[in-house]
Amino acid sequence: MAQDRILFFDTTLRDGEQSPGCSMTQQEKLSMAHALEDLGVDILEAGFAISSDGDFAAIQAVSKEIRAPRIASLARARTEDIERAAASLEHAERSRIHIFLASSDIHLEYKLKISREEALDLAAKSVTLARTYVDDVEFSPEDSTRTDIDFLCKIVSVAIEAGATTINMPDTVGYATPNEYAAMFRTVRERVPGGDKIIFSSHCHNDLGLAVANSLAAIEGGARQVECTINGIGERAGNAALEEIAAALSVRRDRFTVEHNLKLNHLYAASQQLAQVISFAPSPNKAIVGSNAFAHEAGIHQHGVLSNPLTYEIMTPASVGVPANRMVLGKHSGRHALRSRLKDLGYQLGASDLEAAYRAFTELADRKKAIYDQDLINLVAHHRRHEELISAEPISEAS
Ligand code: KIV
Ligand code: ZN
Repeated sequence: MAQDRILFFDTTLRDGEQSPGCSMTQQEKLSMAHALEDLGVDILEAGFAISSDGDFAAIQAVSKEIRAPRIASLARARTEDIERAAASLEHAERSRIHIFLASSDIHLEYKLKISREEALDLAAKSVTLARTYVDDVEFSPEDSTRTDIDFLCKIVSVAIEAGATTINMPDTVGYATPNEYAAMFRTVRERVPGGDKIIFSSHCHNDLGLAVANSLAAIEGGARQVECTINGIGERAGNAALEEIAAALSVRRDRFTVEHNLKLNHLYAASQQLAQVISFAPSPNKAIVGSNAFAHEAGIHQHGVLSNPLTYEIMTPASVGVPANRMVLGKHSGRHALRSRLKDLGYQLGASDLEAAYRAFTELADRKKAIYDQDLINLVAHHRRHEELISAEPISEAS
């Protein structure tokens, strides 16, 4: 039986770019768009056309150059936004207008200052207008997770009725827990007429550190599109990290029996490219792409990984495009790791030499946090000089 397919909707160039210090030039957006195309994302949200001339031009440039993913352009539920989004997508091979409109009472009352009835009217009119430009329209009731569930079902029904082909239910403020988020998808899918004909999508923010967990819960609740960003960049604490969702689906395919189009061995390259573009590397302990994600320092772990990587690694570094696992030598490291690193550096030490090198290494490791290759090269050179001195002593005594 054919498995369900999860569509990856990447919003690094739109929601990701909205995070402080992450703005990108048109050229930078284009280079990232190529990396995302190589990675195999299905939909690429290139910007918010009405927000600036620069964003409009960047969406246009991405639409001209990027062929495989569908290109999405964001718009509020306003005529001028939708017209601008449609114009920005003019050259796209396949395009999507993505309309968002707040649906929670707190947003309706304090941000938009409109009633629920007015919101329903705007949802219907904006989706209908967008459908006159493109046949693929996504509608997002912003702040879905803080929206009264009956009203959420109502506004989703209205959007579907007007022609929305994807319904995205964002956890805009990162408030939901996984069980709640999955339940929301189940309820809306069950209650809304026509829900079986469209794709439901998740869009999670990381304010409570739950963005990836919530995205996976949404999949369990029936979402078939996930919105996410490379390295999890995005507003405030960020969006759900694409590489973490993708790796989870792959490593736990026993639990998520779904397919997707991503080439996982391009994840690291996309992450590195983004880090270069925004001059902002993911933290060392960031899952999948952080510099410590495949590093092992403790001796017991290092010995295990050298015997069989599966002892402490649930995926191979190569499977996500990370060049090789990195043994960080420090005071918790053992002889196996030292011998292996020395071998990589071209030193084949016999048992007694290794023992001497190990003693010198542990002394050094007590003084330094991490031992680098140059330290080891110095250590071996020192040890060799010392050995020569010892063997020279008897000769000098004899002479
Ligand atoms: O977080 C959010 O609600 C958004 C919408 C525009 C989808 O980014
Ligand atoms: Zn968002």
